[in-house]
Amino acid sequence: MKKIAYPLLAGLMLISSAHAADPKPTPDETALRNGQKSAQFCRHCHGVGGSSVREDTPNLAGQNEAYLLTQMEKFVSGKRKNEFMEGLIKALTPEERKNIALYFSQQEVVVKPVANAAQAASGKRLYESLCISCHGATAYGTEKVPRLASQQPPYLQDSLKRYRSGSGERIDPLMAAYTRNLKDADIVNLSAYLASMR
Ligand code: HEC
Ligand code: HEC
Repeated sequence: MKKIAYPLLAGLMLISSAHAADPKPTPDETALRNGQKSAQFCRHCHGVGGSSVREDTPNLAGQNEAYLLTQMEKFVSGKRKNEFMEGLIKALTPEERKNIALYFSQQEVVVKPVANAAQAASGKRLYESLCISCHGATAYGTEKVPRLASQQPPYLQDSLKRYRSGSGERIDPLMAAYTRNLKDADIVNLSAYLASMR
C-alpha cells in the first residue's frame, strides 16, 4: 500500500487544481510575435506552427504554456536528457523560451487520421481507469500536466517507456509509478487512443 499512496495523493491534489478557475487572458501580441520569430528554427522537426511531421518528435502546438516552459528548463538543467534539445534550448535566453512557449501554446494542432481503431478502443479503457484522474477527460493539459490529445503515437510510446524504465532520459515520480505495471501492448493501445483524441 505504501508504494501507491504517494501517487494517489498527488493525483488528488492535481485534480483539485485542474478544476480551479482557468481564465484565458488575451496573449501579449508583442511576446507572441517575438515567440513566432524565435521558433522559426524549431519547425525543421516540430513542424510549422508546432504540428510535427516526424514521428519521434512531439507536437508543440496547443501544448500547455507552463508545461512547455518547464520542459525547456528541464533540458537546460539536465533533468531531461536529449543531447540536441539540451544544447538548443541552452542557446536561447529565458525571455525567448517564455515567448516560444506562449507562441506554441496558442497554435492549433493539425490532427492526423486514427490509425488503429481497435487499439484506440482498448487504450480508452486503460486511460479511463489509470490516467484520467490527472490528465482529464479531454487530455488538453493544464499547468500541472501536459496535453496528450492528438500527440504523435511513437513519441508517446517512447516517453511512456522512458518513465517506466527509469533509464534517466525522463524522470518523474508520478509517471514512473503509473507506467510501472504497463505492458508494451498497453503502451501501444494508450498511445493510439491519445493520438485519436480531438
Ligand atoms: C533536430 C530536431 C529538433 C529541432 C530542430 C527542435 N526539436 Fe524540440 N524536440 C525534438 C525531439 C526529438 C524531441 C523529443 C525528445 C524526447 O524524446 O525527450 C523534442 C522535444 C521538445 C520539447 C518537449 C515537448 C514535450 O512534449 O515534452 C520541447 C518543449 C521542445 N522540443 C522545444 C523545441 C524548441 C523551442 C525548438 C526550437 C528552438 C526545438 N524544440 C527544435 C527535436 C527537435
Ligand atoms: C498522478 C498524476 C498523473 C497520472 C495518474 C498520470 N500522469 Fe502522465 N504526467 C503527469 C505529469 C505531472 C507529467 C509531466 C512529467 C514530466 O515533467 O516529465 C506527465 C507526463 C506524461 C507524458 C509525457 C507527455 C509529453 O508531452 O512528453 C505522457 C505521455 C503521459 N504523462 C501519459 C500518461 C498516461 C498514459 C497515464 C496513465 C497510464 C498517465 N500519464 C497518468 C501526471 C500524471
